[in-house]
Amino acid sequence: MIELHNHILRYVVPIHRTKPDADVALRMARIAAADGIRIITSTPHFRPPLLGDRVSEVVELMRVGVERLNEMLREEQVPVEVVGGAEIQLCEELPELAAEGLLPTLGEGRHVMVELPVASYAAYAENVLFELQIKGYAPLIAHVERLASAPVQEIEPEELVARGIKLQVNCESLCGKRGREVAHLAQDVIRRGLASGLGSDAHDPESSPPRISVCRGAVERAGGRGSFERLTWDEPLAIIGRA
Ligand SMILES: [Fe+2]
Repeated sequence: MIELHNHILRYVVPIHRTKPDADVALRMARIAAADGIRIITSTPHFRPPLLGDRVSEVVELMRVGVERLNEMLREEQVPVEVVGGAEIQLCEELPELAAEGLLPTLGEGRHVMVELPVASYAAYAENVLFELQIKGYAPLIAHVERLASAPVQEIEPEELVARGIKLQVNCESLCGKRGREVAHLAQDVIRRGLASGLGSDAHDPESSPPRISVCRGAVERAGGRGSFERLTWDEPLAIIGRA
């Protein structure tokens, strides 16, 4: 399986307030391997307004972190590969960063994972997404189902997909960990064939481990036979630029 949303990198390089700890990163990778995950897409939070003039420094840190993590995994013989990426906060600076080559893409492809705001309605969302597309990037919305409770009802999953934007769904949402409303939207997006991939959104080995096989039943109930394979291999493979 390929998973599209994972915060393992915070334990490898100092990109967040979390203290790097190689043992935790290895534990997470081993949990993923045991679950049948072969490729982890590394998507640490990337919030340009908070980073200020440290954007390029952090982009480089993320690149080095993925390299270091892969070396570690090879040394420890953990059968998982990590590809780069980021969970990019939607903000008005994104088209400019894209033009400067400072927008981390998922794997070797042109997709960028964008996190839409849930606390307030961003009037510039549509424009920013469109400008990224014009610049040759393909936005993938992170855990779209979490918008279920957001004041952004204007953003319809179907409309996003019609505009060439892809949608990622979190496993924990499908399993009901974020409440009934979020679970319903997650299932609905899959039922209507609008999702392009799944993620664990793992933050640590204990409370949010990197497992996605646990939601196979929920995915297949919503999307039918073959939907789980499509969402955990075929589509993500294209998203990370390997198909
Ligand atoms: Fe995340």
